[in-house]
Amino acid sequence: MGLFQPSIPPLPPGIDLAGQTVVVTGATSGIGLAVAKRIVKLHASNVIFAVRDTVKGEALKASFLADPEIRSANPKGTIQVMQLNMETYESVKTFTSEFMRRFGELHVLLLNAGGMSHQREMVSSGHEKAIQVNYLSNVMLLLELLPLLESTADKAGKPSRVTWTGSRSYRQTSLNKNPPSVSKGILNHLDHAESIPLFTRYADSKLLGLLFLRELANRYGHDKVIINSFCPNTVDTGMATSMPFYLRIPAAAIMKVKGRSPDEATSIVLNAAFVAGEETHGNLLEDCTVVPLSMFVQSDEGAKVQSQLWNETSPHSRRIFSGNPSGSRLASSALRACVAVATLVLNHGSAPVLASVFSEPFQVFSAKKFPGVIESTPLSKCFALQGIKIPIRKDGVKGRGGGGDGDGEYD
Ligand SMILES: NC(=O)c1ccc[n+]([C@@H]2O[C@H](COP(=O)([O-])OP(=O)(O)OC[C@H]3O[C@@H](n4cnc5c(N)ncnc54)[C@H](OP(=O)(O)O)[C@@H]3O)[C@@H](O)[C@H]2O)c1
Repeated sequence: MGLFQPSIPPLPPGIDLAGQTVVVTGATSGIGLAVAKRIVKLHASNVIFAVRDTVKGEALKASFLADPEIRSANPKGTIQVMQLNMETYESVKTFTSEFMRRFGELHVLLLNAGGMSHQREMVSSGHEKAIQVNYLSNVMLLLELLPLLESTADKAGKPSRVTWTGSRSYRQTSLNKNPPSVSKGILNHLDHAESIPLFTRYADSKLLGLLFLRELANRYGHDKVIINSFCPNTVDTGMATSMPFYLRIPAAAIMKVKGRSPDEATSIVLNAAFVAGEETHGNLLEDCTVVPLSMFVQSDEGAKVQSQLWNETSPHSRRIFSGNPSGSRLASSALRACVAVATLVLNHGSAPVLASVFSEPFQVFSAKKFPGVIESTPLSKCFALQGIKIPIRKDGVKGRGGGGDGDGEYD
């Protein structure tokens, strides 16, 4: 890696975000703060700072409102501060529910919040912190907000956008050496491995995001929502502050010498989120260009890890969706993606899901309550032929495996 970074090509003129609602996670510092400021200046109608520290968020909002340059650039735009702690699913769910209650539209979701963790640190979700913050919570945010992004695209007549901040450091992943077996599980391995080298936990978490987006793009087209990722290379931000003390000074020195300023990095973010086209769906841009992915990601072994990660992530998501009424509002394409992704989340700490199936979206009615009223679907006929009964799960039913509703109702 050289000491100097290539210059960033200028953005095309005329980017105007009037009428758009944009969420920036981690808008309190570094790249997120700089990009939030630039988006306000580009006339966005609503900019939402999704932050874990709302006091800090409100102070930044006040400083934006007091800045004559920002106010004159966008006198009508609003800035909202909303709480989002990526360490917990509860916070993600509270954020998305509250967001959907308050806003009827979402044009752009910038999944920027993230950080390094250098030693294994478990969080309340039962996952390792880097995996939860940099990967799992981003998956949940994306999937929960996908229906709103889709309906916004329908109204706007053009795709909405999700841009997830990745990192080239995914190339340093530990998973290329000895990928865990299907029975051990990737998430389980990363949650519990003690001896992952310094920086590799971060690299692993960024690889998961990239593999997830690649697999999602295989299943979910770009006609309603373009979902991509980018790496801004080295940017002089507060990232080094989370490093062990003996690395902070050298890391800060490298950032000062080599790093781009957060303001410079905003052009890379805006390029990915507003300029890059559908060809970047499911891809990582390094600076402003899609470059070949690592040999590992392109290898058969990498493809197996990608597919295994998807199969682990989707049940996990399904468990979380199952308790969430918004799940019933999922658009059909999103539903198919979510059902697949849901398989991922459930695999945490229990027997892995061995298979998953997909069908066209269908409505489920209780045969007990509506006997003979609803015609069988091809899928239900297929299940009936094989003697498979589908327990009907009611929203809000708690407990692992989820289950039936106790009435013994079956489709
Ligand atoms: N700087 C680089 O060289 C570089 C290179 C490649 C990729 N990136 C990526 O760029 C993104 C932004 O990082 P940065 O360089 O701007 O670093 P930063 O200045 O440390 O900003 C990180 C932001 O994420 C927020 N955040 C961290 N953990 C969170 C949590 N649990 N819940 C909610 N918000 C949380 C922080 O909030 P607080 O203010 O509350 O701490 C902060 O706003 C990250 O995803 C990072 O991985 C950075």
